Amino acid sequence: MKFFIDTADTDQIRAAAAIGVLDGVNTNPSLIAKSGRPFKDVIVEICELVDGPVSAEVTATETEAMLDEAREYASWADNVIIKLPLIPEGLRACKTLSDEGVGTNVTLCFSANQALLAARAGATYISPFIGRLDDLGHEGMDVIAEIVTAYDNYPEIDTEVLVASIRHPRHVTDAALIGADVATVPPSVIDKMFKHPMTDIGLEKFLADWEDVPGAS
Ligand code: G3P
Repeated sequence: MKFFIDTADTDQIRAAAAIGVLDGVNTNPSLIAKSGRPFKDVIVEICELVDGPVSAEVTATETEAMLDEAREYASWADNVIIKLPLIPEGLRACKTLSDEGVGTNVTLCFSANQALLAARAGATYISPFIGRLDDLGHEGMDVIAEIVTAYDNYPEIDTEVLVASIRHPRHVTDAALIGADVATVPPSVIDKMFKHPMTDIGLEKFLADWEDVPGAS
């Protein structure tokens, strides 16, 4: 499974990229606003930090205006992909961009039916928001299972399932067990994925025992 980081904070992106586990970056208007920086400045810097796809989301809600934004954003760097909301206007724009060879990430997906429509529109990635479904008392991971199962029934579908709105490490594990293609993971959850007390305890013991090895540096 590939890992995208869910942030527009370039310091956090730089740190994750340095570990060597980053396949891309996912942003959205809220994350860009949180960065406190101009949109283009952030996206251009992020595209220089990672080789993989960097999602830049349109904010227009009419198809032609979406396409104008998309073509502008796509001109900023070769690894920009365009994020489009899962509304009819967004899927029309997705179909046009897909036909033009522009990478797309259809976002704000909350059902398998929406994901099937996005695949039919040629989406490169589909972003089901599992955390927001969980927040409502639903089982967001069930939607991921439905989407992956449905997509797998049709070899012609090459839309990748990008699990989004991840809240904790168990979401990442469950997404991988189901066979999702990508998880976009908040920096705080990436940190938690690394952590296990037995690893810390074991390393401490190894290093303490190594002190007793004759000649050990
Ligand atoms: O950026 C898409 C998604 O990962 C954001 O989810 O629910 O944390 O705002 P959320």
